[in-house]
Amino acid sequence: MSYSFKTFLKHTAKDFHNQSVNPPVVRASTIIFKSIQDIRKTQNKYKKDPTGGHFDYGRQGTSTTHILQKILTKIEECYHVFLTPTGFGSVFLSIISVVRPGDEILVSDPVYSPTRFLTEDYLKNFNIKTIFYNPHDLNTLRKKITKKTKLIFVESPGSNSFEFQDLSKVISIAKKNKIFTAIDNTWATPYFFKPMKIGFDMSIVSATKYYSGHSDVMGGSLAVNKKVFKLVEKANKVTGLRLGPDDAYLITRGLRTLDLRLDKHQENARKVAAFLSKNKKIKLLYPYKKDSFNFRMWKKYYSGASGLMGLRIKAKNKKSILKFVNSLKLFGYGYSWGGFESLALHQEIREQGNRKFLNLAKDEHLVRLHIGLEDPKDLIQDLKRCLKFIK
Ligand SMILES: Cc1ncc(COP(=O)(O)O)c(C=O)c1O
Repeated sequence: MSYSFKTFLKHTAKDFHNQSVNPPVVRASTIIFKSIQDIRKTQNKYKKDPTGGHFDYGRQGTSTTHILQKILTKIEECYHVFLTPTGFGSVFLSIISVVRPGDEILVSDPVYSPTRFLTEDYLKNFNIKTIFYNPHDLNTLRKKITKKTKLIFVESPGSNSFEFQDLSKVISIAKKNKIFTAIDNTWATPYFFKPMKIGFDMSIVSATKYYSGHSDVMGGSLAVNKKVFKLVEKANKVTGLRLGPDDAYLITRGLRTLDLRLDKHQENARKVAAFLSKNKKIKLLYPYKKDSFNFRMWKKYYSGASGLMGLRIKAKNKKSILKFVNSLKLFGYGYSWGGFESLALHQEIREQGNRKFLNLAKDEHLVRLHIGLEDPKDLIQDLKRCLKFIK
């Protein structure tokens, strides 16, 4: 019998040995065997089935991390999921698994700014070149492919500016040119969109955000297909990236309510979007108004939208924008998102990254809002009070 996503999340990871509805937290560095022959037996089992949870040392994981890997493999509909201590660890792992000195990477311009730094600046030291493409003009992607292009790295929607692109076209361009593909799918999670099903080789989710949902744990997941599995496994081994069992337990606990929270984030965000869309100074960066390319691309691939949105605000006086965000009472001012609470962040170059295709006018400002699980009426009231400060 097969169950829906929602039912699966509620019934998964029961511990039949201890009769508890939740799995035990198994903390281990050393794993004790009866003999060296016994160790070899486990190692041979691992060789035959490297995704099967056969561990000879705690760095590979314990039953607690393995349970989370099994759940995520099922919901991503992929071959295997690697776990990392942060979402950014998964971004790093996806790239260094497949890229070598002399290679080139094509990166969607609106990526998370640390991803931009990693590719454009840090990897330059290893003779790896990064070229950015415009997510709304895939010709800029097609034209920039060379014999050296090894990877196309996408973040969808774009960080802070929320561009949606034609993802199947990206995949078909990549396949035609035998290029690996990776996507950062943190905004939607596989609840709203499953990148592995449309042909991505790797898909990243920062578990720090909606998976855990309570702003108290960090982690990352990297879903892979069979084609890249061995490459990622090798890179994972040499980097020693490992998610601790306590964090894995909290993420598993968060996943039980992922669907309920995301449905509610979406409902609240739509109410807030309806309110903000009436304000003439604001261009809403959220799939809300039906008349745009962004909306069509969102509709084509996603079954829903999460609680993170951008506002492109026209204002001559920058200080008035800061006054707007600083005066909000129900929106905390800070990094990250995906927890139960609402957050606001004014985006300056440090947050945006040195973008090639954003084209913000001098009197335009980006503000990011995370719409939490509070009563949306209160959030709207708070926004209404503070929007008056914008000049
Ligand atoms: C889109 C996106 N990807 C990846 C990350 C990195 O995740 P983490 O903070 O878990 O390292 C973030 C963090 O804000 C993010 O917004």
